[in-house]
Amino acid sequence: MTTEPAAPGRDHVSGLRCVKCNATTAVGPAVYVCPGCGGNLQVEYDYPAIRSAWRRDELARSDDRTLWRYAPLYPVASRIDFPTVGWTPLLPAPKLARSIGLRSLHLKDDGRNPSASFKDRASAIALLRAREIGAELVTGASTGNAASATSVLAAALGIKTRIFVPAAAPRAKIAQLLAFGAEVLAVDGSYDQAFDLCLEATRRFGWYNRNTGFNPYTREGKKSVSFEICEQLGWQVPDLVVVPVGDGNIISGVWKGFCDFHAVGFIDRLPRLLAVQASGSAAVVDAVKGDGVIRPVSGDTVADSISVSLPRDGDAAVQAVRASQGFGVTVSDDEILAAILEVARGAAVFAEPAGAASWAGLKAAVRQGIVDPGWNTVMLITGNGLKDVASVMKVAGEPREIAPDPSQLDGMFDKR
Ligand SMILES: Cc1ncc(COP(=O)(O)O)c(C=O)c1O
Ligand SMILES: [Zn+2]
Repeated sequence: MTTEPAAPGRDHVSGLRCVKCNATTAVGPAVYVCPGCGGNLQVEYDYPAIRSAWRRDELARSDDRTLWRYAPLYPVASRIDFPTVGWTPLLPAPKLARSIGLRSLHLKDDGRNPSASFKDRASAIALLRAREIGAELVTGASTGNAASATSVLAAALGIKTRIFVPAAAPRAKIAQLLAFGAEVLAVDGSYDQAFDLCLEATRRFGWYNRNTGFNPYTREGKKSVSFEICEQLGWQVPDLVVVPVGDGNIISGVWKGFCDFHAVGFIDRLPRLLAVQASGSAAVVDAVKGDGVIRPVSGDTVADSISVSLPRDGDAAVQAVRASQGFGVTVSDDEILAAILEVARGAAVFAEPAGAASWAGLKAAVRQGIVDPGWNTVMLITGNGLKDVASVMKVAGEPREIAPDPSQLDGMFDKR
């Protein structure tokens, strides 16, 4: 049995604020971006009302072990119980921490979500919103994970999906889409091209669009990870949260989560954020280190989930890192691939390349002296390693071959 939410979140939404020009817009069925400047929108709440209706000790007593335990801070009035999204394990990683001289390190293993990535958080909120406004068809463009997440939740809600993905997306991600019943359009091009094609389809056909960043509700789902981290650390706010960045929507969501909890008085401080990008796909980190302006890059990296030329939530991502007094680092593809094995062997978590990038980035940040070894650090592992086995095999080596003949065992091993 789960406890029902204390108050429906949607009643507390006060409007949508543009992350670029700060103008506010009312919520509406087809409102995605700022009507004035085209910037992405952020959902705003009546925080004093939530604060007076919802107490931290009441939340702490809830036996709901999903992201719905935070219902008063979501912009939807309904929930979906199966599949269960969120409340993923926060695992101590003492071995990894020791290897780089950190006092405390935890991994948030979001590969344990229903479609095996962090993206289920975003799709849960975005698809409930779709259902609440009566949308019959949801479209989305994705490097793969956002699409799998959309498809699994759409299957549960009985909503049709039409998904645009780069044809070169890892096979496991395409297999998930097909298995969940999505209509898959494999775009002979990049993620950025798939994104633009999907936007054009939305304009022409009026489908509900779940695209990362463009849809303001994706950030609202992603923020749930920060709520969980605070609770799972016994209401401690970490000093540093490490986030792999592509479009920048996870990191802006992580920041929004901590800010929302702060605004309702559940926490009294905020963490720093460390944005990690692949060196070939580093538009957000370049902007953080430079003048704050997002400029397109090649997007080349082995980590397909963070392979983005023009980050679609870049402005909010840069604002989040800067507001947190955080940092950005870049890592090479070799460092990312090596990190898959290190996280697997050092913390027993199997990460896809983008997820392992967190660890590669944390190591780089420690080497560069920007992380205080005393900081209580949490790193997001955003996708499961089974999503992209081909990348793992580039560094994992090959198994030893053996014929099914007992004589083959002669002299092969020492007796123990
Ligand atoms: C596993 C994984 N990690 C990180 C990211 C990056 O998230 P964002 O594009 O919101 O920055 C994604 C996005 O697809 C992802 O699937
Ligand atoms: Zn605007």
